[in-house]
Order: sequence, then structure tokens, then C-alpha cells
Amino acid sequence: MEMAPNKTLIYPVAAFLSSFRRRMTISSLAMLIALLCLSSSATLAQLATTPPMGWNSWNHFGAKVSDADVRAAADALVATGLRDSGYLYVNIDDGWQGKRIDSGELTPNERFPDMRALADYVHARGLKLGIYSSPGAVTCAGNEGSMGHEERDARTFATWGVDYLKYDICSYRKILDRDAHGDPEVAQRMMFAVFERMNSALRATGRPIVYSVSQHGLSRGWTWANQAGANLWRTGDDVRDNYLSVTEIGFAQGGLSKFAGPGHWNDPDMLEIGNGGLTPDEGRTQLSLWSLLAAPLLAGNDLSTMDADSLTILNNREVLSIDQDPAGRQGNRLWTEGSLEIWARDLTGGSVAVGLFNRSQGPTDIPLDLKLLGLKNATKVRDEWQHRNLAPIQGSRTFRVAPHGVVLLVIHP
Ligand code: GAL
Repeated sequence: MEMAPNKTLIYPVAAFLSSFRRRMTISSLAMLIALLCLSSSATLAQLATTPPMGWNSWNHFGAKVSDADVRAAADALVATGLRDSGYLYVNIDDGWQGKRIDSGELTPNERFPDMRALADYVHARGLKLGIYSSPGAVTCAGNEGSMGHEERDARTFATWGVDYLKYDICSYRKILDRDAHGDPEVAQRMMFAVFERMNSALRATGRPIVYSVSQHGLSRGWTWANQAGANLWRTGDDVRDNYLSVTEIGFAQGGLSKFAGPGHWNDPDMLEIGNGGLTPDEGRTQLSLWSLLAAPLLAGNDLSTMDADSLTILNNREVLSIDQDPAGRQGNRLWTEGSLEIWARDLTGGSVAVGLFNRSQGPTDIPLDLKLLGLKNATKVRDEWQHRNLAPIQGSRTFRVAPHGVVLLVIHP
């Protein structure tokens, strides 16, 4: 699916063009150029206005992903209704690359016979295609990277119809180790330069391509990746398919909220829901926490064979609308005691999303004191997993939370 033209920008341009035919002056030419520049930067600025949602091949298919897997994921996004809930990006991770041929062009391997046809297949279903590369000479799975070929590869991706690039540091780390001599400032400058180089190459193609920087949070990437052009950047290590990994990463995201907002997001890594290692309560924990964090939501499972519980979790539109709240204000931890945590996120219109998390192995009561939210009373209280309105709260209320589970509320003052 191509970007819809922005009518508010096109109409002034069209009106101007008709007057332009009548009297062309130097100043009108200058104005036309200014309008066209405005139009193009506005289109780019519109990328990822809410955290990207979709699917990524890595967590389930690893480096053996194939064209057929990607088509099946696209079909499943449509058939399950996940596309209509906002999961739009179909992202091929590491494992698609073949050889770089003599002309310098990077070609796909035999599992991807025709990238342009695959992009057409994905676009015909109202979805967008993502791809993966590295600023290093080789990727983390040992495939050909983009080092020294950035402009060429960006043009190739644009020609195929790619809408999203994940650019993963991988073997460039060795160059950092070699040349930065342990100096964090030099390392940061070097990373900025290589990630910005691909950003410029992508922008030079003229195609709106969401840019995902993956460098595992090195050199506090959240402080500079946005200036290097990234729409999202990883804040830490790879997520694994178990509760410990999901929660170690998720609950370590406190304090990063000021770096996120429309067009630029902290990325705590992909979802593991549906891969078999999380119970339904643990899956609800990941989706709730990621939504409070305004995190990108990239399903990482096999969508064509997932069980009903996983689909119900991934497709909870009440929770997804917290993640996609247009103001894009990332949440934070408000309270913690032992293995209990309360996180909250301000939403558009003055309501607040609140997650009460129980990281212990037994059911536990968690007290919610509205003073934490700066409130005395809550007139409307919605339970986002039970899909029901609860009684108003005066002052405080205690909630029973399942082991490794969550109660997720939206509270209106
Ligand atoms: C890692 C990255 C993973 C995946 C993998 C592919 O560095 O964090 O998400 O992309 O490389 O090799």
C-alpha cells in the first residue's frame, strides 16, 4: 500500500500551479520550490506517528525465513483481523540475503526468488513490507551487510517497494572495538555516522521508509538515534521467549519516556506472545507493559498456526489503543514494592492507563492509591482485559492480580 497523498499539502500546490501558469516570476518560482520542500518534509515527518505495529520473522523463523513464510504471515494478518487492528508491517529480518553481484547490487537468496513480487503481494493486502540489513560487512547471522554500499542498497530496497528498514549493528561492533579504543564518545560518534549514513541514503530515495535502528541500546542510543534519523531504536538486548527475559527488559525501561514521541520511539524489542514460552497471563503482561511504554508492537510468532489465546491477546483493541494513543506519551513506573509494580501512561483527553503487575508466583493484592496519579477520585474505571467497567474509585482500591499477571485499567478522573 502506498502512502496516501496529503491533500492539505497538495491543494495549495495545485492552486499555486494554476496561478503560476498565468504569471511566472522569480518570486513565484521560489515559492513553488518552498511548497514542494514543505510537501516532501511533511511526508517524511509523518512516518511512525504512532509506534509501528506488525510482524517480524526473526523470533520464530530465524535465519531460515522464506518468501512462503512471509506471504503466510501477510495472509494471516488479514485472516485473523490483526491487520484491521493496526498490525501493518510485515518485516523480513536477517536471512533473506544472497550474494552481492558484480554490479554491486545485493540480491536475495534462493528462498526469496522475487522481492518485488513479494512486496506487491504484501501491498495488495493493504500491508507494508520491511527488510533488514547492517552497517557492518556482515549481519549477525553472517549474511552480506551494507557497509560501503549504503546508497546502492537503499535504492535497491526502494525499488523493491520496501517500507521499513531494520538496520542492525552486528559486525560493525568489531570496527567500534578496533577504532574507538574503548572511548565511549568516539564510539558514539562512529555509530551516529554509520546510522546517519543509511538514513541519508534512505531519504535520498524519496520513498517513505520507516527507519529502525538496532544497536541494543549501546552508548545510550535513545539520546542520539533520533538525530541520526531513526524512527525507533532498540534500548537493550534481544528478547527471549520466557517471562524472565520479557520482564527483565520491560521493567528496565523506566526513565526513558522523555526520549519517545510521535515519529521517534524507544524499542524494547519484539513480542514473544504465541511462541510457546509465555502463559496467557505472561503474554498479557508483555502486551500491557509494551503498550504503557508506547513500544513498537511487532508480533514475533507464527501467525498462521497460533492458538486462540495468543490471537485474543495480540488482538485486544482496547490495549492496542493505549499503545497507539496519538499523543505518544510513553509511561513510567510509579510505584514498586518487592515483586509488585505499578506503571502508568497519560492518554489523550486526560485519562490515564494504569498497569498493576505481579511478578511473583502467587496471586497477590496490589493497592492502587489514586494519589500516585495525582487524583482523588476516578469516575470511570475500565478493565482493559476483562472488557468491563468497574465501580468508581474514591481514594484507593486493592486489586487481586494473578501470578505473573497484570490488571490493566484506563481511569478517567
Ligand atoms: C540481532 C537482533 C535480532 C535479530 C538478529 C538477526 O542482533 O537483535 O533482533 O535481528 O540480530 O541476526
